[in-house]
Amino acid sequence: MTSNYHETYNQWKSEPLRFWSDAAKQISWDKPWDKVLDEDGSVYGEWFSGATCNTCYNCLDRHVESGRKDQPAIIYDSPITGAKRTYTYGQLLQEVEALASVLTAKGITKGDRVIIYLPMIPQAVISMLACARIGAVHSVVFGGFAAAELATRINDASPKMIISASCGIEPGRVIKYKPLLDQAIELATAKPSTTIIVQRQQSICDLVEGRDFDYDQLVGEAISTNAKQPCVPVKATDPLYILYTSGTTGEPKGIIRDNGGHMVALKWSMHAIYGINPGEVWWAASDVGWVVGHSYIVYAPLLHGATSILFEGKPVGTPDAGTFWRIIEEHNVVALFTAPTAFRAIKQVDPKGEMLAKYNLSGLRTLFLAGERADPDTIQWAEKQLKVPVIDHWWQTETGWTIAGNPIGLGQLPVKYGSPTVAMPGYDVRILDDEGHRIATGDLGNIVVKLPLPPGCLPNLWNAEQRFRDAYLTEFPGYYQTSDAGYIDEDGYLYIMARTDDIINVAGHRLSTGAMEEVIAGHNDVAECAVIGVNDALKGQMPLGFLVINAGVNRELGEIEKEVVQLVRQKIGPVAAFKKAIPVKRLPKTRSGKILRATMQKIADCEDWKMPATIDDPDILDEITGYLKEHGMAGG
Ligand code: COA
Ligand code: AMP
Repeated sequence: MTSNYHETYNQWKSEPLRFWSDAAKQISWDKPWDKVLDEDGSVYGEWFSGATCNTCYNCLDRHVESGRKDQPAIIYDSPITGAKRTYTYGQLLQEVEALASVLTAKGITKGDRVIIYLPMIPQAVISMLACARIGAVHSVVFGGFAAAELATRINDASPKMIISASCGIEPGRVIKYKPLLDQAIELATAKPSTTIIVQRQQSICDLVEGRDFDYDQLVGEAISTNAKQPCVPVKATDPLYILYTSGTTGEPKGIIRDNGGHMVALKWSMHAIYGINPGEVWWAASDVGWVVGHSYIVYAPLLHGATSILFEGKPVGTPDAGTFWRIIEEHNVVALFTAPTAFRAIKQVDPKGEMLAKYNLSGLRTLFLAGERADPDTIQWAEKQLKVPVIDHWWQTETGWTIAGNPIGLGQLPVKYGSPTVAMPGYDVRILDDEGHRIATGDLGNIVVKLPLPPGCLPNLWNAEQRFRDAYLTEFPGYYQTSDAGYIDEDGYLYIMARTDDIINVAGHRLSTGAMEEVIAGHNDVAECAVIGVNDALKGQMPLGFLVINAGVNRELGEIEKEVVQLVRQKIGPVAAFKKAIPVKRLPKTRSGKILRATMQKIADCEDWKMPATIDDPDILDEITGYLKEHGMAGG
């Protein structure tokens, strides 16, 4: 099949407003827009200004009204607990209406924030949609974050309510959420007045009288009294959610997603990019705490009238490396979207694909990978095992959907290993040098997107407009700075090579080494530290710390290392995967005092490196190489 990609991209480029107003016809609006793009709105323009709409209506009510009432909307499959449950569109709507009425009865109204701190259970999806229904702004916090990280988000979002659970379940252990929640509320200065707790049988928790309420009890009562809450029309430009993501400091950035543009972009993407038809079963194996979960477990498949799998488990060990294949066969999944690290985990355990041979995967059409660089080995292994196209695509929490991909619905383009293919309609992607000049085809530079960003991308940061401008818009005026470096080849294929900031990508999770350094610097015995990301065969990257210990400290260094590891786990959370810190005499720096993290990383990864011209003392790099070798790491 020839691809319509070039024709579609050119249509967008020549008439962008017509392109997006055509796409917007797929959405039900309460009131149509005055302007497709209001160039004077917000920071760089606002999409569909003047329109009113409701995201929950478009995800649920609309499909129930048009005959999808009995079609599965969500299939919850939890190999970690053994639970399975299917919610049809009609049943999901009933649950959402009931919870929305509970939220309203508890005083939540349009514009109020609600934090959702839940594991991968149906109540997470129901809570997001119930907020959307009444115009409340949800902020989902990933379960692998510690109390202090949750407290930071509570302070920034100042939620009236938190919806949480008694526990989450990781392989071999039950994670009690309630003590983390209580600690976070204690640490936070902005206290929510109410919490609603899903009691899971694996660990029932105590409820604080007057503040904590039992989810099942409240929702059960609402269902038995047939309590319903109608959809509240909101402005297309009103926030649907805030999702915090790592920035270059310890303070996470609150990415705002609007209602109207978000629906238009996600609905368009489901067929054009992923090739999914309404009624088909789609699976994004991520977590609702990440952007992939927001966009492709919850909103996009439901806007599209598809069925979405909600998977509570891991690619290996729950119970084995055949879990993914069992789910694909059992639920007739036509396309899977996950992070490359999940496939590396499966490949490590079952390199020959013996588990896979036990299942019938004939219904699977495509595998999509994103969240981190997809290494050619993993892509080729997946292609060989699954015998379907394996599609890498590149995006960020900030954009909410694909910047560069290989659009299956428009017709697949040839795959080039190492490239997520081409810019999607909506994105005018350029490569600039540090002075902001366009650079030659094939040369490495800063990847930027010409403003305005398309519908669905962040219009601003929550409570931090100046930070939004500083972080994304100031360095290259007229462009959005992605903080990724890469190049475009002669066929227009994009290559994503590295981050230009301190963000690392561990098992597809975005983490800030700066935030880890801030925590480590808080240890009494640490004078100075640096954290870098080093290559890891399973997780892509792993953080590695270097510690300069205060003069006069005579303690066992191994003890200090253990405490530092524990501190990061306690303050940021297990998801940081911070396991190793090497005590060193001193850190390599420039003459102006900047730590040479990039050079240290190249040494650790055995990459070619050049002696930085501005280095203060070149001998320190030899010392670092020595320490790395001593610790059994590459370092050569
Ligand atoms: N709640 C509490 N703890 C959590 C958690 C959660 N929701 N998710 C992860 N953790 C913990 C893990 O148990 C682990 O703890 P440990 O240090 O005690 O072992 C730690 O956080 C690090 O987690 P992770 O980096 O995910 O490692 P893992 O060994 O548990 O799993 C993979 C590795 C590759 C199997 C897993 O990361 C994976 O499936 N990733 C691909 C899919 C994905 O999530 N993509 C994200 C965005 S698309
Ligand atoms: P997140 O905001 O967590 O989605 O992380 C976004 C970052 O992950 C990007 O800025 C990239 O650095 C990286 N990333 C995401 N997808 C890809 C990909 N397909 N190839 C390379 N890097 C990617």
